[in-house]
Amino acid sequence: MRQIDQKSIAGIYHQKTKYYEAQMSEQQTPLNWATQPSPFKEYHSEKNIDLTPYLPLKNNPFTGKPIEHVEEKGYPFTLGALSRLLYFTNGVTGILQYPSGENLAMRAAPTAGGLYPTEIYVAIQNHAMLADGIYNFQVSDHSLVPAWEGNFWSEFGKYCFGHEAIESANLIFITTAIFQRSAWRYQERAYRRILLDTGHVLGNLVAYAHEEGFFPYSIGKFVDKSFNRLLFLDEALEGVLSVVALPQNPVKIDENPERSLQHRFVQLNDGEIDPLLLQLHHGSSIQLKKELQAQFSTNTDGPESLEEKYGFKETAPLTGEPIDWINGIGQTILLRRSTRAYTGESFSRESLSSLLKYAYSDHLLEHSHLFSSAYLETYLVIQHVDGLEAGVYYYAPLSQELRLIYAGDFERQTWHFCLGQELARDAAALVIHTANLEKAMSQYGNRAYRYLHLDAGHIGERMNLAAIQLKLGVSGIGGFYDDEVNALLGLPLDQIIVYITTLGQSHGVHRP
Ligand SMILES: Cc1cc2nc3c(=O)[nH]c(=O)nc-3n(C[C@H](O)[C@H](O)[C@H](O)COP(=O)(O)O)c2cc1C
Repeated sequence: MRQIDQKSIAGIYHQKTKYYEAQMSEQQTPLNWATQPSPFKEYHSEKNIDLTPYLPLKNNPFTGKPIEHVEEKGYPFTLGALSRLLYFTNGVTGILQYPSGENLAMRAAPTAGGLYPTEIYVAIQNHAMLADGIYNFQVSDHSLVPAWEGNFWSEFGKYCFGHEAIESANLIFITTAIFQRSAWRYQERAYRRILLDTGHVLGNLVAYAHEEGFFPYSIGKFVDKSFNRLLFLDEALEGVLSVVALPQNPVKIDENPERSLQHRFVQLNDGEIDPLLLQLHHGSSIQLKKELQAQFSTNTDGPESLEEKYGFKETAPLTGEPIDWINGIGQTILLRRSTRAYTGESFSRESLSSLLKYAYSDHLLEHSHLFSSAYLETYLVIQHVDGLEAGVYYYAPLSQELRLIYAGDFERQTWHFCLGQELARDAAALVIHTANLEKAMSQYGNRAYRYLHLDAGHIGERMNLAAIQLKLGVSGIGGFYDDEVNALLGLPLDQIIVYITTLGQSHGVHRP
């Protein structure tokens, strides 16, 4: 059986953070609630910009006063557009009250364990009402705090290797992660969930930004240290994960393959940085110094066509209608919650088709919204979908086909490998993202690990939104016995399991 290559930090990290049933008691330590980090980063300033008067709600939840709605789109963007963009990307969309009386502010994007590791910074230039600078989005009171005044566009351009969308944009979102928020509960494996969580946040941003008249460009290739320094981040605690430029028009991006060779990585001194999570984060950093040798081959051929895979097998074409968003994606984001329990009932093949079509739309690739999606391979375990035989399928996104690998009922296996969660057993279908890590690394080095998980989270969020709009239940699953998933899918172990999204009929959606 082919094994994962453990010569790279990404390979080592992945192997060491796999869950095995026999080791679960060591891998998951009891939670110490006293040490849980706050999910809110606080910056104090006299110049806080209150964005609540522009919330896309009937009444301001902070003052109770009615909110007046004015329609405006694109540039010059208004405070209203900025408020909505932030809100639908990851603002507070619900409050969950625990029996203890404590509240959990639930956000627009889902997050493993309700831990919210993702922070959002916003850079603005040439705005009539806001000074040039970098702001932090304060989720708890829906405001922007000026963190650094000044124009940093030339730095952004340099740090993003001259990405064309930067200079065309007056608005840039920068996402960072505060590692300990998630590591507090999930230890080393937290980094996987942090990336998936941030991918979900990007999914909201990209889906909603179009509605406001922006053209988002997600940039994964940037000089980490320079960005981290610009934001004064303590690199042992927090790091930039993505940069999203939001110009008002599409920008021509130079797809020159030479560019991917700029993925140069810091040399890793084994064991120098502890814990493993930080080793991977820093080991997947890009730095400017040209003389550093890349740690991977310079093969830029790209992945072999995923569409060909299992082409000779029994094929089920997917022919669902495109989703009608009726009141806009923002309104769907408002309603999104993860399903806590499925009924075990089926849903239709048409719904599954529409959902997959939206989640994997060509649009995503055409407009550079994903980082490495060409390396993600998607499998489905169909448990109860009308018009589809139960079994394991390969999904070919371009031809919109499900290819049956083998038929059978696998609820017991899915329940077991999702750590005994009934959510998996009772789901109508599980969508499983996998990737050949080595192949993805041949193009992106260790950074492939980030890209694959960010992209899987991004597609996962699109599945969330589509499911909610189709009145289906949906939930991500970030913890699974990796090798057991490989066994069910019949995949060698060098094909890593990235993420699982469950879909089904829900009867346990949290409606705060
Ligand atoms: C990466 C990721 C992994 C998750 N894993 C699980 C899981 O294993 N089991 C589960 O019940 N929910 C899981 N969830 C759902 C979260 O528990 C849920 O998003 C969080 O409690 C916030 O609630 P909301 O999604 O309803 O806003 C996951 C979500 C994400 C994004």
